[in-house]
Amino acid sequence: MQAMIINKTGGSEVFELAEIATPTPGPGEVLIEIAYAGVNPADWKNRQGMLAQYRPYVFPYIIGFDAAGEVAALGEGVSEFSIGDRVFTPTNHGQGGQGSYAEYAIASVDRVASIPDQLSFAQAAALPVAALTAWQGLFTRGQVESGQQIMIHGGSGGLGSFAVQFARVKGARVAATCSTANVDYLKALGVEKVIDYRTQNITKEVTAWAPEGLDYLMNAVGESTLPDGMDLVKSGGTYVSIPTLVDDGDMAASAAAAAKKNINRVFSTMDDQNTSAMLTEIANLLASGEITMPPIQEYPLSAVADAHAALETGHTRGKVVLKVADL
Ligand SMILES: NC(=O)c1ccc[n+]([C@@H]2O[C@H](COP(=O)([O-])OP(=O)(O)OC[C@H]3O[C@@H](n4cnc5c(N)ncnc54)[C@H](OP(=O)(O)O)[C@@H]3O)[C@@H](O)[C@H]2O)c1
Repeated sequence: MQAMIINKTGGSEVFELAEIATPTPGPGEVLIEIAYAGVNPADWKNRQGMLAQYRPYVFPYIIGFDAAGEVAALGEGVSEFSIGDRVFTPTNHGQGGQGSYAEYAIASVDRVASIPDQLSFAQAAALPVAALTAWQGLFTRGQVESGQQIMIHGGSGGLGSFAVQFARVKGARVAATCSTANVDYLKALGVEKVIDYRTQNITKEVTAWAPEGLDYLMNAVGESTLPDGMDLVKSGGTYVSIPTLVDDGDMAASAAAAAKKNINRVFSTMDDQNTSAMLTEIANLLASGEITMPPIQEYPLSAVADAHAALETGHTRGKVVLKVADL
């Protein structure tokens, strides 16, 4: 198969298109022929070697968590899918497998979900890491409920665009931060209180909107961008940070400070519990129109360097995907 491989970590110049062996699915695994690969900030960090604490780098190495395409082969014992089914998945990349910037990738069957007819491959590829991390941060690590006042710091990115909508659908009252150019975008997603971090004081705005403090806060940007985060959450509330690998502050000190204020402090990294069921629930919300798909910037696989450059700015709206093949 053709794959966008790297043979060393570094800048975008390390990418090379190469011919490598197509993988074979083992027991419980599915081989997926990829139409689109989703791109996440973790990908450029991975390309630079920042995920070494989680996995060894074995070259040639294929980056990319998210994939959407068709089932091409089934491993022993897999009966949930048939050849040709339209599916999407975060693949087995987070578990040490090769990634999705390739014509084929492997995923354990419990990490694979069907794509509803209403969603394109590009849309489905945009979902897994961003939507699962948002969902788990809100409802697994936190317990966001109807009527609560919650805030998503970083509402206009891949993760934030889903988080604000998931919380709204649950009935929560949602505030979110973004830059000036994204204020109208977040209002259109149903955010009640949009705070422009470039022109407004976040603490002042949150305090006026939720005088007793937030029930729940998600920081999807980085600790240095919200130094007063703990002060915004009420006693008994939850403060979730999504680890970024580049701006996570002193987690232990933050947890200790939260304990003194009776705040549930969580650093929430995506896990693989109930992945298939969660992806199905999220896809159904999109298919039914209860939430809308964020805008998607699409690049051909050969322009992976441009896709990474866009994400490395830290200011893309919605999601970025790579087109791998016409399926
Ligand atoms: N640990 C995990 O399991 C995990 C999983 C998923 C994501 N993450 C991490 O979570 C972070 C967000 O992911 P993502 O996919 O949403 O990234 P993204 O698509 O690149 O979005 C980043 C967003 O952050 C916003 N932003 C930048 N500076 C800001 C500031 N000072 N205040 C408020 N918003 C700001 C930008 O909005 P404006 O353009 O409006 O500024 C942009 O929309 C990344 O660091 C990613 O690596 C971690």
